[in-house]
Amino acid sequence: MVGPVWGGGARALDLLWALPPVSLANLKPNPGSRKPERRQRGRRRGRKCGRGHKGERQRGTRPRLGFEGGQTPFYIRIPKYGFNEGHSFRCQYQPLSLNRLQYLIDLGRVDPTQPIDLTQLVNGRGMTIQPLKRDYGAQLVEEGADTFKAKVNIEVQLVSELAIAATEKKCLEILCKPVPFFLRGQPIPKRMLSPEALVPCYTDAKNRGYLADPAKYPKARLELAKNTRKVPRQIFFGLAPGRVVNMTDKKILKPTDENLKYYSS
Ligand SMILES: *[C@@H]1O[C@H](CO)[C@@H](O)[C@H](O)[C@H]1NC(C)=O
Repeated sequence: MVGPVWGGGARALDLLWALPPVSLANLKPNPGSRKPERRQRGRRRGRKCGRGHKGERQRGTRPRLGFEGGQTPFYIRIPKYGFNEGHSFRCQYQPLSLNRLQYLIDLGRVDPTQPIDLTQLVNGRGMTIQPLKRDYGAQLVEEGADTFKAKVNIEVQLVSELAIAATEKKCLEILCKPVPFFLRGQPIPKRMLSPEALVPCYTDAKNRGYLADPAKYPKARLELAKNTRKVPRQIFFGLAPGRVVNMTDKKILKPTDENLKYYSS
């Protein structure tokens, strides 16, 4: 609270201007107007003083945490099992959805005419990479694949199949260096080798891996175009919901009626 102000009304007014407006967040009672509650001896808190009758609760001699009164406690009875072994060494890849990428491009925070890599994404505040928290890069996930419009040449560290189909132009690369590196004035080092578990991924043209043979990309592209996955509510391959098949004419009719739009949405 504000103490007495010396120096006249002008200074007091200045102070008032500087103070935040009164709101529920900064209202509180005047200092000294409320006293802390004391132990009462009369009708309300006398006798047991709120601690109940006898035993550990009254005397404050509770046993340690995990003690079950002499019975073999839980943490000894159940064997430990390494479900999360090595969790502190696992690589993490921050997700970047196609929705988010489109949003960044629409706002002009990322330039789609230039190749996009981790540097552009981080500088555009598209994602936060914390190498000290074992972030090894970005993974492109397929959320928003149906509304993604931009043409990009993006470089990410992991990618899902549908996201490949949606963007199609990409190569995968391992690259992770924080910006303060440049302030130290050291020469730019070599790129780190990819983690051992991801070598099959990066050498496979199916994932457009950067270690794969570039000559195999066109074939992989063709294959991906052939066996695109069905959307979850689609029944037949190659036939979108809402289409009408005429067997006598051997034709597939696309819906134009407004009422039939229900099927394809
Ligand atoms: C298929 O097309 C033919 C000729 O246009 C038409 O007579 C027939 O009714 C159509 N069949 C269906 C199931 O719509």
